[in-house]
Amino acid sequence: MARDVILACDFPDARATVSFLQQFKGQKPFVKIGMELFYGAGPSIVHTLKEMGHKIFLDLKLHDIPNTVKKAMRVLSGLEIDLCNVHAAGTVAMMEAALEGLTAPDGKRPQLIAVTQLTSTSSAQLHDELGIPDSMEETVIRYARNAKAAGLDGVVCSPLETRGIKEACGDSFLAVTPGIRYPSDDKGDQTRVTSPADAKRLGSDYIVVGRPITAAPDPVAAYERVLKDFL
Ligand code: C5P
Repeated sequence: MARDVILACDFPDARATVSFLQQFKGQKPFVKIGMELFYGAGPSIVHTLKEMGHKIFLDLKLHDIPNTVKKAMRVLSGLEIDLCNVHAAGTVAMMEAALEGLTAPDGKRPQLIAVTQLTSTSSAQLHDELGIPDSMEETVIRYARNAKAAGLDGVVCSPLETRGIKEACGDSFLAVTPGIRYPSDDKGDQTRVTSPADAKRLGSDYIVVGRPITAAPDPVAAYERVLKDFL
């Protein structure tokens, strides 16, 4: 897949999502369905957005025992998704099970990536709350190596960590990066943020952008600005 901007559709239901996306007229942004929308609208939202012509990143961040994740992934493999994810913290065994569940008998499957550390987590939280003594970068790179060892296609990380991950796991290992903000934007709950142009410079393959577009007075213009700065 080529580099792209993934638009995070963090809305409560199908109606709000469809009417938001209808503003984009001829454009068909690559969209992300997260927990709020998937749990609110149900799995049919994937079909609805696929029918409208969008590529789909299903961002459910699975994290459970390997057998449960494998079975859940088998269910998700029946939906028309292009990209989905798990938490790398679930271990290599869990990521291998996820891949197995996601792969159809003919060998076809959507791309699978692993969340390293959420871009809302600060170094202080990593050390003091989660009790992980290594630096954020060391932790993220260890998780990325584990994802690669399990056979995954890439990771979700902050753009600030992309370089180290590409050095450790190779250039074709995908870096999908949320935490995108312009200096004038409200950071909200994100802590490790960069602008679209900096994410490009740092080597992101995909940036995931939500509120800077969905909460903008003119979401189409905001999306076009992000596209122009990232592509
Ligand atoms: O609104 P904002 O641009 O912060 O949205 C970022 C999106 O990316 C959210 O939907 C969030 O769930 C998702 N995400 C993230 N950090 C990760 C993985 C996904 O922010 N590590």
